[in-house]
Amino acid sequence: MNPLDYARAHSAEALAELEEFLRIPSISTQAEHKPDMERAAGWLRDQLLAAGFPRAEVMPTAGHPIVYAEWQPHPGRPTILVYGHYDVQPADPLDLWRTPPFEPTRIGDDLFGRGSSDDKGQLYTHVTAVKAFKETLGAPPVNIRCLFEGEEESGSPSLAPFIQKHKELLAADVAVVSDGQIIDKETPAIVYGLRGISYLEVKVTGPAGDLHSGGYGGAVHNPIHALSTMIAGLHDANGRITIPGFYDSVRDLDPQERAGLARIPFDRDAWLQQAGVSQAWGEPDYSIIERTGARPALDVNGIWGGYIEPGAKTVLPSKAYAKISMRLVPDQEPQEAFRLIEQHLKAIAPKTVSVEVQYLHGGNPAIVRRDSAPMKAAVRAYAAAFGAEPIFVRTGGSIPVIAEFQKELGIETILMGFGLPDDNLHAPNEKFHLPNYFRGIETVIRFQEFLAG
Ligand code: BES
Ligand code: ZN
Repeated sequence: MNPLDYARAHSAEALAELEEFLRIPSISTQAEHKPDMERAAGWLRDQLLAAGFPRAEVMPTAGHPIVYAEWQPHPGRPTILVYGHYDVQPADPLDLWRTPPFEPTRIGDDLFGRGSSDDKGQLYTHVTAVKAFKETLGAPPVNIRCLFEGEEESGSPSLAPFIQKHKELLAADVAVVSDGQIIDKETPAIVYGLRGISYLEVKVTGPAGDLHSGGYGGAVHNPIHALSTMIAGLHDANGRITIPGFYDSVRDLDPQERAGLARIPFDRDAWLQQAGVSQAWGEPDYSIIERTGARPALDVNGIWGGYIEPGAKTVLPSKAYAKISMRLVPDQEPQEAFRLIEQHLKAIAPKTVSVEVQYLHGGNPAIVRRDSAPMKAAVRAYAAAFGAEPIFVRTGGSIPVIAEFQKELGIETILMGFGLPDDNLHAPNEKFHLPNYFRGIETVIRFQEFLAG
């Protein structure tokens, strides 16, 4: 039997294993899930060993462990470095899930569960593909190293130090990352550009302690008002970010690239419906595809302060907070973007309050080469598995490791995603479209075959 037939014949097994993986609530950002993180890492190592990797281990970091594996059956042939993440986003708000987030549930062609698409299902296509090679040909046709981290959803604090420390372990000709999306279930896509990110928290302090809003309201500046005004001023009426210097390092889009982006199939109404909005917003001179993939953005991820429990409490709070993320494009840099916003927030803060700004995490934007031999193998693999040529796209999400691979290991990445735009990433009712799972496994198998030549 060949590996493709093996994978097709064993799809039920691949599904059962993915369901097992999804039952582990590996939420990296919540301390109470630390044991689940260990469990998920151990489970993944065991699956890698079962798939044939002679070496697979859980390697400790300062945070959650990294799962590393390698199989080098063919000295002289290319080595790929497969990256993915076994951690998931928190499942809240729980009451909006139609099925329990950590009880994977199949409805029609979709598998619902936290992490199904981002990223356990996509990551697992690689494990399954290797197993198909092992069971049929004895070994995969190329050399493979795996780097699966457990902190992607919380800014990957331990990853850069790990990469810097283990360069020989990670040496490869190309990296492969399945943690993204295609256009729709019949139209594959390869991401060649990702936005970077700079994430921060702002704290605005007014009075030294909470005050009675009757006793002081009208004469003491409420920090929530001050923060709201500051935030409201971060964009102009055209959706352009007002932070001085913010656009200085933004690379202009050349006409040729704009023409390419304009050719990406885009159904505006479907997009509006998916987003659940009646109108788009943002820079009028750029298309929605450009606004979300090739232009920077600034979003408040959360804002809080004062009394937010049921009922009423008349308080003039001492503090107000916001979490803000900035999505960055080449050649913006996360620390520099942070410096600019910190300076700006302090400059625009009224004298009645004080402002503290804290950097939480960041990652660089990346653009990858589209003309390499591995990229050509990936294009052929998608075309064979999906029956349609993949389209090159840019994405608005961030996978900071891509820039890290370029800088530290000197390698390019193939973004071999299998998710769909309506997979509800980071939201209730996350799902993975199962035909994409199986076509994903097929794409990975063919990619390795084409790359081996
Ligand atoms: N898989 C996503 C990134 C992604 C989303 C790629 C949509 C393509 C399409 C990834 O897990 C993610 O969410 N990353 C975070 C990174 C951040 C925490 C540094 C993100 O983009 O918010
Ligand atoms: Zn992801």
